[in-house]
Amino acid sequence: MLKGKHLIDPQDFSLEELESIFELAEEIIKDQNSFKDLCTGKILGTLFYEPSTRTRFSFEAAMLRLGGRVIGFSEPGSSSVMKGESIPDTIRTVASYVDIIAMRHPKEGAPKYASYYSSIPIINAGDGGHQHPTQTLTDLLTIKEVKGGFSDLTIGLCGDLKFGRTVHSLIKAMSRYENIKFILISPKELQIPNYIKTEILENKDIPFIEVERLEDVIDSLDILYMTRVQKERFFNEADYIRLKDSYILDREKLKLAKKDLAILHPLPRVNEISYEIDDDPRACYFQQIKYGMYARMALIAKLLGVA
Ligand code: NCD
Repeated sequence: MLKGKHLIDPQDFSLEELESIFELAEEIIKDQNSFKDLCTGKILGTLFYEPSTRTRFSFEAAMLRLGGRVIGFSEPGSSSVMKGESIPDTIRTVASYVDIIAMRHPKEGAPKYASYYSSIPIINAGDGGHQHPTQTLTDLLTIKEVKGGFSDLTIGLCGDLKFGRTVHSLIKAMSRYENIKFILISPKELQIPNYIKTEILENKDIPFIEVERLEDVIDSLDILYMTRVQKERFFNEADYIRLKDSYILDREKLKLAKKDLAILHPLPRVNEISYEIDDDPRACYFQQIKYGMYARMALIAKLLGVA
């Protein structure tokens, strides 16, 4: 039963619970119209302390398409946060008005902290460089739709693996399925954090290698997950400028890849995927956007206990 639960970490739900979300998402994809009144009378609160396009809009669109309504802020500067209000007080307040909350915050752990004070479900919509579990629902649903399942896959994750929260969450999630291999492609300075290596990959004996050149490994991949260098998490502008164009996926490199490679990207893209491959059948990142809305529709319905 997912009713009333929080979603803070990608491993908060069992594999069966995740499957129930994907099944509902698939039903919604087939016949969206029959779900249009599912959340009538319910309100989603969106507390976005950090910029967002897809995540916030897809949460809002998801709730509106279920017949519910949305209130919130996308600029903490326009709320009492500016007056120094604490997270517990903001959460207690908003939880008195709405039925479910999606929260994005630059500080790692902020949504978890918020969940201790909330009588209603809190969804982590991204906390600093830590986790992003609803992007992971999006990524998993995309993988399920384009690859038919989650097992027997070699997954390349490329770019900023240090600060990229979507990468951390995807590794956590995919590490629970059978026969998964990870190829971690990044500059030395942007390698995956140690806790992901020790607590997830080594702990579960999941094969992984760390490499610097995409060209050397692209031919072995079933999924290539590209990410942007996370400018806002750098302390030093010069380092960002030096690293920002470390990887650019273009037609030349793609010639080396499998015919059924699936290229994913959480977006926004900066330079890491050349526009010339947008029409390649292997480019799945625009489909992925739509799956994100369906995954969030299913998630909201499950946490509210209306489906
Ligand atoms: C990601 C994020 O916010 O972490 N964007 C998103 O939610 N789709 C990825 C990113 O910003 O690079």
